Amino acid sequence: MKNHNWKFNYLSKFQNEIDKIKEEGHYRTFNSIERKVGNFPKATRHHNGEMHDIDVWCSNDYLGMSQNKEVIQSMIMAAEKLGAGSGGTRNISGTTQNHILLEEEIAKLHKKERALAFNSGYSANESALKSIISAFDNCLVLSDELNHASLIEGIRGSKKEKAIFKHNDVAHLKKVLKGVSFERPKIIVVESVYSMEADFSPLEDIVEVAQENGALIYLDEVHAVGLYGSSGGGIAEEKGIVEHIDIINGTLAKAFGLAGGYIASTETIVDYVRSFSKGFIFTTSMCPAVAAGSLESIKQVQKKHELRSEFFKNVNFVKEELRKTGIPFLDSGSHIVPVIIGDSKLCKEISDYLLNQHKVYVQPINFPTVPKGTERIRITPTPCHSREVTKNFIESLKDAWFKFMPRISSIAVKQSIQKTTI
Ligand SMILES: Cc1ncc(COP(=O)(O)O)c(C=O)c1O
Repeated sequence: MKNHNWKFNYLSKFQNEIDKIKEEGHYRTFNSIERKVGNFPKATRHHNGEMHDIDVWCSNDYLGMSQNKEVIQSMIMAAEKLGAGSGGTRNISGTTQNHILLEEEIAKLHKKERALAFNSGYSANESALKSIISAFDNCLVLSDELNHASLIEGIRGSKKEKAIFKHNDVAHLKKVLKGVSFERPKIIVVESVYSMEADFSPLEDIVEVAQENGALIYLDEVHAVGLYGSSGGGIAEEKGIVEHIDIINGTLAKAFGLAGGYIASTETIVDYVRSFSKGFIFTTSMCPAVAAGSLESIKQVQKKHELRSEFFKNVNFVKEELRKTGIPFLDSGSHIVPVIIGDSKLCKEISDYLLNQHKVYVQPINFPTVPKGTERIRITPTPCHSREVTKNFIESLKDAWFKFMPRISSIAVKQSIQKTTI
């Protein structure tokens, strides 16, 4: 009989790694929730064979577009007409008219010559960035220290030299660039809104540094598209500097409420990525219904100025109500409201308490999404959160905060107070 004992060595290694993160308190537990169309932020939670109604406060469906009737209708129509899947890679029978129209709309949204759709914002960053950097033998990549994992993986995959500059610190970026020749190819990689710090990149200054040093700019606008700028084109549009940003990355999964990601740039850069990026070439293309829904959503969001103003009104209302409670939060000016807890186990405990006792859901954000010691809950108001739902949430949070306060790391509280308006 064959001896299979060797397999247990592999399994025990995997198990040890899992046990380690359980011990450290950042093992991830997925909550099974079903949001209800027409009723978001209400959702049903499935837990231990039971179902409960809850309010969701941590969704990235920032504008509630995932439940927009026209978007859903366009998806149904596309699926009925074209089938569920695309049936191939973009090169081998997987390009539909929906994909083409979606890319034209994205290019228009960002005032760029051309755009390219990927199956996620993550894969757009990882594979586009890797191929763009790889085009230059001697490329130097300048990356903000708090860049998203997808950007980091794209940079790492290129195997070119990288220099990390301190978060949003233009003086440090300049220092890193000192002595590097103007002729050497360089790419500055930043996000416009940092989704865990909730702050904005100093984009105008970054553009200036790029111009002084002959660098390209790759900008992740994932948490800004659909929300900022006069047509929802993001922070670059809002600041009127789109033409100075060489490559814009965005997602269809957050403010636009679907799934998928993209880059928008010049004809040549997009054609290059289309031709060389393995994560674009060697994968089945986005489902046609997702492309149709995304196209509809982008068109809707551009028109719906009142939806965006309602969104920001609600964000401000949450912040005002939080200020009254004395709970410190990172008020960096964006639509995201992080409350630092500073300990992974406690962060999970607070989140569980809110869910079980108050039926409000904010997922704990632990390592590796944020550095250890800066664990937080991340609140994301939407236009769908009514005043009543918000007041109930604030009362619940207040109860949890003061119940757990003695255990919330004083360092974490101090950190957030420094950046906070109370
Ligand atoms: C800054 C940033 N970039 C890219 C992504 C990936 O986007 P997607 O969810 O479309 O894969 C995320 C996801 O949260 C993100 O926060």
